[in-house]
Amino acid sequence: MKKLAIFASGTGSNAQKIIDHFQHHDHIEVSLIVSNKPKAGVLEIAQKEDIPFIVLSRESFYKTHQLVKQLQTRQIDFIILAGFLWLVPDYLIRSFPNKIINIHPALLPNYGGKGMYGMHVHEAVKKNKETISGITIHYVNENYDEGQIIKQVTCEINPNDSALDIRNKVLVLEHDHYPRVIEELITSHSF
Ligand code: GRF
Repeated sequence: MKKLAIFASGTGSNAQKIIDHFQHHDHIEVSLIVSNKPKAGVLEIAQKEDIPFIVLSRESFYKTHQLVKQLQTRQIDFIILAGFLWLVPDYLIRSFPNKIINIHPALLPNYGGKGMYGMHVHEAVKKNKETISGITIHYVNENYDEGQIIKQVTCEINPNDSALDIRNKVLVLEHDHYPRVIEELITSHSF
C-alpha cells in the first residue's frame, strides 16, 4: 500500500473527494490528515472517516523535525496538500523529494505566490477580466506555487461570472481531477 497524508487548513472538500476516491483502492490509501487549524472542517472529516490526524503548531512545524518522524512512523509515502496554507519548510521537502503535491485554484504561474489563496485568487482573476481560469496540480518546492507543473485544466469564464461563480467552476475541476491525477502519479511511481 502507498500511504497518503493529506495536509489541509480549511473545509476539506478536496480532502473528502480524495478520501472517497481511495476508499476501497487496492494500492493507495489515505492514512493521515494533518492540519494547522484545530477547528478546520477537515478534522471533522478525519473523525467521521476514522482517519488519524495531527494538529500542527507553528513552533513544531518550523522549529522541529518532529513531523518527519511522525510521517515516517506511519510509513507515509506521499504528502497531498489540499488547501494547506502554511509554506512547506525545506526539511520536509528534502524528506519527501518529488512526493509532495499541491493543487492551486488558478493557472500558474499566474495568480500564485504568497497571499494568493482562496477567494483572493478568484477576485484577482475577475478583476483582470480573464476569460479562462482553472487548476494547476504541481510538485511543491520551497517557494509558494513554484514547483514543477504536473497538470493544468481550464474552464471558461463568462463576463458576468462573479468571483464566487469562478470559484465554483474551479472547485468542480479540483474535485474531478485531483484524486485521479494523484492516482495516476502514484501508480506510475510504484514500479
Ligand atoms: C481549494 O480551492 C484548493 O485549490 C486551494 O484551497 C482550496 C481548498 O478547498 N489550495 P477545500 O478545503 O478543499 O474545500
